[in-house]
This record gives sequence, structure tokens and C-alpha cells, in this order.
Amino acid sequence: MRGLVLASLLALGTTACVAAAPDAVRGEQLYTRCLACHALAYDRVGPRHCGLFGRLAGSVPGFAYSPAMKNSKIVWNEKTLDQFLKSPLKMVPGTAMTYDGVPDPKDRADLIAYLKQATSPGSPQCPKAK
Ligand code: HEC
Repeated sequence: MRGLVLASLLALGTTACVAAAPDAVRGEQLYTRCLACHALAYDRVGPRHCGLFGRLAGSVPGFAYSPAMKNSKIVWNEKTLDQFLKSPLKMVPGTAMTYDGVPDPKDRADLIAYLKQATSPGSPQCPKAK
């Protein structure tokens, strides 16, 4: 009986843990919201996302950013992306990214986990990105 209780507690613990960890596969599905304007490897209405992590905001060569984004001095990482995606206009007032944002923290975490994988230089999606 004791063993059984312990086993179910362990099972519960594992489930909770899996549910809380960022899920890049789910993030890839959420990225379809961004595909209206972005692509990983080339510029569209929005700049390409390959090489995003560690990049200075507004620095893709040849992309016509808003002055607000260019002057923001943000460096993209998990933290800054989380803030920006929560409310783009709040973090970068005047940004040309006319998008309401991703209100759910878990959605943002999954999306960022996907972006981290997919945009890293040498990934299948970004073979030549710097
Ligand atoms: C309606 C079109 C649109 C949608 C939808 C959109 N974006 Fe953007 N995004 C833009 C534009 C335009 C810019 C350039 C903003 C500027 O210059 O102020 C941008 C800029 C960015 C930047 C800054 C990039 C850089 O090089 O500094 C990030 C990061 C970003 N978007 C992520 C996302 C993510 C993730 C999603 C999906 C949740 C998304 N965007 C959805 C249009 C969009």
C-alpha cells in the first residue's frame, strides 16, 4: 500500500514536471501565428528570425526597421523575447510590429523554446545563419 501511494505520488510529480517544461514542438505550432509576417530564413513583412538569440534588435542588414526598434538597444534572449512577445508595443513603443502579443506565459515559453532551437546557426532551418 505504501509503495502504491509512493508510486502514484512519483507519477504525479513527473506529469507536473513534463507539463511545466517548455515544449518546442508545441512552440512550432504556435509559430504559425508569426508566419503571417515572418519566416525563419528570409525577410517578409517582419525580419528573418535565423540567428535571433544574442542578436541586437533591429540589426538584420537590409531590413527596414522602425526607428523605435533600431534604437531600442535590446539584445534578444529568453528574457527579452518573453517581455517583447507579451506586449510588443509596451516594450518597444512605436514598433512596426502591429501584433497584440502572446498573453499566455506557457505559450510564450514554448514559442521561445522552439525559436531557440530553430533559429540557432547551423540548425536545419538556419543552415547558414550568423
Ligand atoms: C503583423 C505582422 C507581424 C506578426 C504577426 C508578427 N511580427 Fe514580429 N515583427 C513584425 C515587424 C514589421 C517587425 C519589425 C518591427 C520594427 O521594426 O519595429 C517585427 C519584429 C520582430 C522581432 C524583432 C526582430 C529583430 O530583428 O530585432 C521579433 C523577435 C519578432 N518580431 C518576433 C515575432 C514573433 C515570435 C511573432 C509571433 C508570435 C511575431 N513576431 C509576429 C511583424 C510581425
